[in-house]
Amino acid sequence: MSDNRPIGIFDSGIGGLTVARAIKQLLPEEQLIYFGDTAHFPYGDKEKKSIQNYSKRISKFLIQQNCKAIVIACNTASAASASMLRKELGEQIPLIDVISPVVQFIKENFKTKKIGVIATKGTTHSRVYPKLIHQADDSIEVHTSATPLLAPMIEEGFFNNQISRSIIASYLAKNNLRGIDALVLGCTHYPIIAGEIEEYYQSLKQKTAIINSAQVVAEHIQTELTRRKLLSDHLTSDHQFYISDWTNSFEKSSEIFFGRAIKLQKKGLWK
Ligand code: DGL
Repeated sequence: MSDNRPIGIFDSGIGGLTVARAIKQLLPEEQLIYFGDTAHFPYGDKEKKSIQNYSKRISKFLIQQNCKAIVIACNTASAASASMLRKELGEQIPLIDVISPVVQFIKENFKTKKIGVIATKGTTHSRVYPKLIHQADDSIEVHTSATPLLAPMIEEGFFNNQISRSIIASYLAKNNLRGIDALVLGCTHYPIIAGEIEEYYQSLKQKTAIINSAQVVAEHIQTELTRRKLLSDHLTSDHQFYISDWTNSFEKSSEIFFGRAIKLQKKGLWK
């Protein structure tokens, strides 16, 4: 049995494309409908209530597009809205957030280790990572650090240059992130600068594993869709990409990070 309806994915901007790309690579038969809420970017410093409203409206749009599953490809929106959306949507559609699969991965691979998490202010202040990791295994030490400049920097196309390297270095040099065994990229924008983060640790000759949620989340989606018999057996039409407001760098950067040119459509959901 197969289900060829699309998978809906959303983020505040370009970051969720790192998750979309991982899904495309692992599940090439799946059609994706992506929504980047650029009109409200960044989510990282918005109130929980506002993020919940945006998430609700975008999910409704994705359901109207006949999506069979919704992926919240944003840590900030996952922290703020996942439980609310689960209650709201009930059993009608699988909802996948980007935090729980990573917590499971850490539980399986980093017992008794010291983990750092970098994320937006919203995700950091929610304390979702330390709470869920400690619930899963309290032998794991967790240190979170807000890195609010990183997502806007990436969204504006600043990466792989002197400015990005120096911002990254000053954030990672913080005391509570010293000597960590692994660093969770707790924002879906950050895989875009994973190479620069790796270079930082190499320059210190420190062995720190970089946990990129995109791959872990894509594998979780594969398991979920298989379990619910919702996998597609062939790609019925091309992927679609919506944004709520035009931004200069989105199209250019999205080409690089989705791995091919994409055609953006503007969809104002808040008229
Ligand atoms: N990509 C989003 C996340 O994973 C955050 C970016 C923002 O602040 O909107 O948290």
